[in-house]
Amino acid sequence: MLTGKRVRLRALEPADSEAMWRWYHDPEVGRWMNSEPPISLAQNLEKGQNRPRNTFEQMVLGIETLDSRRFIGYVALGDTDFPQGEAILQSIAIGDRDHWGGGYGSDALRVICRYAFEEMGLHRVMLWVVADNTAAVQAYRKVGFVEEGRRREAFRTRGKRYDYLMMGMLSSELR
Ligand SMILES: CC(C)(COP(=O)(O)OP(=O)(O)OC[C@H]1O[C@@H](n2cnc3c(N)ncnc32)[C@H](O)[C@@H]1OP(=O)(O)O)[C@@H](O)C(=O)NCCC(=O)NCCS
Repeated sequence: MLTGKRVRLRALEPADSEAMWRWYHDPEVGRWMNSEPPISLAQNLEKGQNRPRNTFEQMVLGIETLDSRRFIGYVALGDTDFPQGEAILQSIAIGDRDHWGGGYGSDALRVICRYAFEEMGLHRVMLWVVADNTAAVQAYRKVGFVEEGRRREAFRTRGKRYDYLMMGMLSSELR
Protein backbone atom coordinates (compact mmCIF):
# COMPACT_ATOMS: atom_id res chain seq x y z
CA MET A 1 0.00 0.00 0.00
CA LEU A 2 2.81 2.41 0.80
CA THR A 3 4.99 1.40 -2.11
CA GLY A 4 5.08 3.30 -5.38
CA LYS A 5 7.11 3.03 -8.58
CA ARG A 6 10.22 4.72 -7.17
CA VAL A 7 9.73 5.04 -3.42
CA ARG A 8 8.45 3.30 -0.36
CA LEU A 9 7.01 5.20 2.61
CA ARG A 10 7.77 3.90 6.09
CA ALA A 11 7.79 5.04 9.72
CA LEU A 12 10.74 7.19 10.76
CA GLU A 13 13.43 5.48 12.83
CA PRO A 14 15.76 7.12 15.38
CA ALA A 15 18.62 6.42 12.93
CA ASP A 16 17.00 8.86 10.47
CA SER A 17 17.49 11.80 12.82
CA GLU A 18 20.93 12.89 11.64
CA ALA A 19 19.82 13.19 8.02
CA MET A 20 16.65 15.02 9.11
CA TRP A 21 18.82 17.43 11.09
CA ARG A 22 21.03 18.14 8.03
CA TRP A 23 17.99 18.77 5.81
CA TYR A 24 16.44 21.02 8.48
CA HIS A 25 19.49 23.29 8.23
CA ASP A 26 19.81 23.20 4.42
CA PRO A 27 18.68 26.65 3.19
CA GLU A 28 17.80 25.24 -0.25
CA VAL A 29 15.53 22.52 1.14
CA GLY A 30 13.88 25.06 3.46
CA ARG A 31 13.71 27.84 0.85
CA TRP A 32 9.88 27.84 0.76
CA MET A 33 9.13 26.54 4.22
CA ASN A 34 8.51 28.43 7.46
CA SER A 35 11.94 29.05 8.93
CA GLU A 36 12.69 27.96 12.47
CA PRO A 37 15.71 28.68 14.67
CA PRO A 38 18.66 26.24 14.55
CA ILE A 39 18.55 23.19 16.80
CA SER A 40 21.47 21.04 17.90
CA LEU A 41 22.05 17.54 16.60
CA ALA A 42 21.63 16.26 20.17
CA GLN A 43 18.19 17.90 20.40
CA ASN A 44 17.20 16.38 17.09
CA LEU A 45 18.43 12.93 18.11
CA GLU A 46 16.32 13.20 21.27
CA LYS A 47 13.30 14.24 19.21
CA GLY A 48 13.91 11.20 16.98
CA GLN A 49 13.88 8.90 20.03
CA ASN A 50 10.61 10.32 21.33
CA ARG A 51 8.62 10.73 18.15
CA PRO A 52 4.88 10.11 18.74
CA ARG A 53 3.54 7.02 17.02
CA ASN A 54 1.81 7.59 13.70
CA THR A 55 -1.98 7.64 13.68
CA PHE A 56 -4.52 8.24 10.93
CA GLU A 57 -4.99 11.69 12.48
CA GLN A 58 -1.31 12.60 12.25
CA MET A 59 1.56 10.83 10.53
CA VAL A 60 5.09 11.54 9.33
CA LEU A 61 6.60 8.96 7.01
CA GLY A 62 10.12 8.57 5.70
CA ILE A 63 10.64 8.37 1.94
CA GLU A 64 13.02 5.64 0.85
CA THR A 65 14.16 4.82 -2.69
CA LEU A 66 12.86 1.46 -3.87
CA ASP A 67 16.06 0.43 -5.62
CA SER A 68 18.74 1.23 -3.03
CA ARG A 69 16.64 1.64 0.14
CA ARG A 70 18.16 5.07 0.65
CA PHE A 71 16.39 7.48 3.02
CA ILE A 72 15.88 10.66 0.97
CA GLY A 73 13.01 12.60 2.52
CA TYR A 74 9.76 12.67 4.45
CA VAL A 75 6.08 13.46 4.02
CA ALA A 76 3.51 14.49 6.64
CA LEU A 77 -0.25 14.08 6.49
CA GLY A 78 -2.49 15.18 9.34
CA ASP A 79 -5.31 17.26 10.81
CA THR A 80 -7.57 14.49 9.54
CA ASP A 81 -11.25 15.31 9.73
CA PHE A 82 -12.98 11.95 9.33
CA PRO A 83 -16.59 13.23 9.41
CA GLN A 84 -15.76 15.53 6.48
CA GLY A 85 -13.34 13.08 4.85
CA GLU A 86 -10.45 15.51 4.54
CA ALA A 87 -6.79 15.66 5.61
CA ILE A 88 -3.99 18.15 5.09
CA LEU A 89 -0.77 17.29 3.29
CA GLN A 90 1.33 19.30 5.73
CA SER A 91 4.78 18.86 4.32
CA ILE A 92 6.89 16.99 1.82
CA ALA A 93 10.61 17.26 1.28
CA ILE A 94 13.16 15.36 -0.70
CA GLY A 95 15.92 16.44 1.68
CA ASP A 96 18.67 14.73 -0.26
CA ARG A 97 19.05 17.26 -3.08
CA ASP A 98 20.91 14.77 -5.31
CA HIS A 99 17.48 13.16 -5.75
CA TRP A 100 15.58 16.29 -6.80
CA GLY A 101 13.91 16.13 -10.18
CA GLY A 102 14.07 12.32 -10.32
CA GLY A 103 10.35 11.71 -9.88
CA TYR A 104 10.71 10.71 -6.20
CA GLY A 105 8.64 13.60 -4.80
CA SER A 106 5.70 13.08 -7.13
CA ASP A 107 5.78 9.33 -6.55
CA ALA A 108 5.74 9.87 -2.76
CA LEU A 109 2.78 12.23 -3.17
CA ARG A 110 0.92 9.65 -5.20
CA VAL A 111 1.56 6.97 -2.58
CA ILE A 112 0.47 9.06 0.42
CA CYS A 113 -2.65 10.33 -1.37
CA ARG A 114 -3.61 6.83 -2.49
CA TYR A 115 -3.24 5.74 1.13
CA ALA A 116 -5.45 8.63 2.26
CA PHE A 117 -8.18 7.77 -0.24
CA GLU A 118 -8.09 3.98 -0.32
CA GLU A 119 -6.95 3.04 3.18
CA MET A 120 -8.28 5.94 5.23
CA GLY A 121 -11.41 6.36 3.12
CA LEU A 122 -10.97 10.13 2.70
CA HIS A 123 -12.62 12.18 -0.01
CA ARG A 124 -10.22 15.14 -0.17
CA VAL A 125 -6.60 16.05 0.54
CA MET A 126 -5.61 19.72 0.67
CA LEU A 127 -2.39 21.68 1.14
CA TRP A 128 -0.83 25.13 1.17
CA VAL A 129 2.19 25.89 -1.00
CA VAL A 130 4.10 29.09 -1.76
CA ALA A 131 3.10 30.09 -5.28
CA ASP A 132 6.75 30.64 -6.33
CA ASN A 133 7.80 27.13 -5.25
CA THR A 134 7.70 25.95 -8.85
CA ALA A 135 8.98 22.43 -8.23
CA ALA A 136 6.41 21.75 -5.52
CA VAL A 137 3.49 23.31 -7.42
CA GLN A 138 4.43 21.30 -10.49
CA ALA A 139 4.76 18.07 -8.47
CA TYR A 140 1.34 18.65 -6.86
CA ARG A 141 -0.30 19.42 -10.21
CA LYS A 142 1.28 16.35 -11.76
CA VAL A 143 -0.46 14.00 -9.31
CA GLY A 144 -3.83 15.73 -9.54
CA PHE A 145 -3.97 18.70 -7.14
CA VAL A 146 -5.71 21.80 -8.48
CA GLU A 147 -5.57 25.39 -7.24
CA GLU A 148 -8.54 26.22 -5.02
CA GLY A 149 -7.55 29.53 -3.47
CA ARG A 150 -4.84 32.11 -2.88
CA ARG A 151 -3.73 33.85 0.32
CA ARG A 152 -2.07 36.96 -1.03
CA GLU A 153 1.38 37.95 0.32
CA ALA A 154 0.97 35.61 3.28
CA PHE A 155 4.48 34.12 3.18
CA ARG A 156 7.57 36.20 3.89
CA THR A 157 11.11 35.02 3.33
CA ARG A 158 14.43 36.74 2.75
CA GLY A 159 12.76 40.15 2.89
CA LYS A 160 10.09 39.46 0.25
CA ARG A 161 6.45 38.47 0.38
CA TYR A 162 4.82 35.74 -1.68
CA ASP A 163 1.32 34.35 -2.16
CA TYR A 164 0.24 31.02 -0.74
CA LEU A 165 -1.82 28.75 -2.97
CA MET A 166 -4.39 26.43 -1.51
CA MET A 167 -4.51 23.25 -3.56
CA GLY A 168 -6.87 20.34 -3.20
CA MET A 169 -7.52 16.96 -4.75
CA LEU A 170 -10.60 14.74 -4.69
CA SER A 171 -10.26 10.98 -4.47
CA SER A 172 -11.40 10.66 -8.10
CA GLU A 173 -8.64 13.02 -9.31
CA LEU A 174 -5.48 11.16 -8.26
CA ARG A 175 -3.23 10.50 -11.25
C1 LIG B 1 8.97 19.78 -4.03
C2 LIG B 1 9.74 18.47 -4.11
C3 LIG B 1 9.24 17.54 -3.00
C4 LIG B 1 9.53 17.83 -5.49
O1 LIG B 1 10.16 16.58 -5.50
P1 LIG B 1 11.03 16.10 -6.76
O2 LIG B 1 11.35 14.68 -6.56
O3 LIG B 1 12.17 17.04 -6.94
O4 LIG B 1 9.99 16.32 -7.95
P2 LIG B 1 9.71 15.34 -9.19
O5 LIG B 1 11.03 14.90 -9.75
O6 LIG B 1 8.74 14.31 -8.78
O7 LIG B 1 9.06 16.35 -10.22
C5 LIG B 1 7.70 16.63 -10.28
C6 LIG B 1 7.45 17.62 -11.38
O8 LIG B 1 8.02 18.88 -11.03
C7 LIG B 1 8.94 19.31 -12.03
N1 LIG B 1 10.04 19.97 -11.37
C8 LIG B 1 10.90 19.43 -10.49
N2 LIG B 1 11.79 20.36 -10.08
C9 LIG B 1 11.47 21.49 -10.74
C10 LIG B 1 12.00 22.81 -10.73
N3 LIG B 1 13.03 23.15 -9.96
N4 LIG B 1 11.41 23.75 -11.50
C11 LIG B 1 10.35 23.43 -12.29
N5 LIG B 1 9.79 22.19 -12.32
C12 LIG B 1 10.35 21.24 -11.56
C13 LIG B 1 9.38 18.04 -12.73
O9 LIG B 1 9.82 18.33 -14.03
C14 LIG B 1 8.11 17.22 -12.70
O10 LIG B 1 7.19 17.62 -13.69
P3 LIG B 1 7.13 16.87 -15.12
O11 LIG B 1 7.09 15.39 -14.84
O12 LIG B 1 5.86 17.41 -15.68
O13 LIG B 1 8.36 17.26 -15.83
C15 LIG B 1 11.28 18.74 -3.92
O14 LIG B 1 11.72 19.63 -4.92
C16 LIG B 1 11.65 19.29 -2.55
O15 LIG B 1 11.85 18.54 -1.61
N6 LIG B 1 11.75 20.64 -2.41
C17 LIG B 1 12.16 21.23 -1.15
C18 LIG B 1 11.10 21.15 -0.06
C19 LIG B 1 9.79 21.80 -0.48
O16 LIG B 1 9.77 22.93 -0.96
N7 LIG B 1 8.68 21.09 -0.24
C20 LIG B 1 7.34 21.53 -0.58
C21 LIG B 1 6.80 22.53 0.34
S1 LIG B 1 6.35 21.87 1.90
